[in-house]
Amino acid sequence: MVNASLLKPLTVSFNPSALKGEISVPGDKSISHRSLMFSALAKGRCRVSGLLEGEDVLRTTVAMRKLGAKIERLSEGIWLVEGKGIGKLSEPDDVLDLGNSGTSARLLSGILSSHPMFSVLTGDESLRSRPMSRVIVPLSTNGSQFFSREKGRLPLSIVGSVQTKPITYRLPVASAQVKSAILLSALNAHGVTHVIEPIPTRDHTENMLRYFGCEVTIKSLAEGGKRIEICGPIELEAHDIVVPGDPSSAAFILVAAAICKGSEVYIRHVGLNPLRTGSFKVLRAMGANLRILNERHEGGEIVGDLLIQGSDLHGVEVNASLAPSMIDEYPILAVAAAYASGTTRFNGLKELRVKESDRFTSIVAMLKANKVEVETDGDDMIIYGNAGYVKGGGVVETHMDHRLAMSASILGLIAKEKITLDDVSFVKTSFPNFYTLLNQLGAGFEL
Ligand code: S3P
Repeated sequence: MVNASLLKPLTVSFNPSALKGEISVPGDKSISHRSLMFSALAKGRCRVSGLLEGEDVLRTTVAMRKLGAKIERLSEGIWLVEGKGIGKLSEPDDVLDLGNSGTSARLLSGILSSHPMFSVLTGDESLRSRPMSRVIVPLSTNGSQFFSREKGRLPLSIVGSVQTKPITYRLPVASAQVKSAILLSALNAHGVTHVIEPIPTRDHTENMLRYFGCEVTIKSLAEGGKRIEICGPIELEAHDIVVPGDPSSAAFILVAAAICKGSEVYIRHVGLNPLRTGSFKVLRAMGANLRILNERHEGGEIVGDLLIQGSDLHGVEVNASLAPSMIDEYPILAVAAAYASGTTRFNGLKELRVKESDRFTSIVAMLKANKVEVETDGDDMIIYGNAGYVKGGGVVETHMDHRLAMSASILGLIAKEKITLDDVSFVKTSFPNFYTLLNQLGAGFEL
């Protein structure tokens, strides 16, 4: 049960005004976590600019400090990390509480399992209900030991290996977190670690490891997918990092602008890693007027600017193969689908059931509560858009899920009747200035 005194409810008023302006969205969450962890493992000093100062990433800073890294905040978004070197982290003197952050828990498991020490991970009610067996199973083969609650749930204690063995693992689920946990364990292993990834997922770990001087061999497989190899132990060399804006956060603004008539919003410096931008493709296929400008390479990643204008949208069928490149964007794409004319079908959403909430169920509940017609068929979701008309009037339970709260807030911008959210406090997990930024564009949220 959620502590009622901590809940921060919000009623979203109908506000038909156009959104206009030029903004930046907060730093990429995946890259922010990695920049702190990898620079803590590197030799030398790393200056990170544009770090996301959301709750999840702040949990990673606290954890890395407890493991001995020197991490200092110089000014807004600018942080300095002094690395300890691979295998040189120190045993934490207390439990590492990772709050709501699955990325912190899974990636840290890879790091901790390859350090000869004892550690305990825990998190909030949402994180404690999420499956960790997906990292425990492969990492246990490197010589480390894991003790968890039933079904691999947190709290989780880890006895790291003294001499880390290399792992060969074929990912049974498309998960960048599992892949990254194994690659992080590889850094301190003796020999070649192989990760076989049948369906490619975000490759920020591979990109940043290369940027820090690690040789990462990536081979395309005839049957599809990739084989990733790292020969450990290796040393990482710190380089300064500029974190681009998070495409997953940009997606909220894009959909808000697309569905508020007359909008025109320019978003500067957004990450455009092709394994993250499936939602941009889908929005365009739905008829969104979205343009990518000034595409360039920066620190091993592709970045650029986005320009979106309000437009009519129409329903589309989205193939399951696109899911890994837009896995965090389904809640907000469901809002776009509710606004569109015609039917949208999202196929293959099994992984949505193990996110910050069971997003498959919570998206359906959000839509139903606001009189949007929606059906499910196994792991597929079918949304019947009503050509710009959303009745609204519902109460949305956000289940400690930041992306659900933000999606329901944007649904509220076009709904004819007020939508009430039980709790918007989790928005700060990934997008602390979400409401301020949208109000700057003219959304008119009353907080
Ligand atoms: C992330 C990977 C994805 C994503 C999460 C961040 C990462 O999770 O949903 O928000 O930073 O590697 P999975 O790997 O579980 O799909």
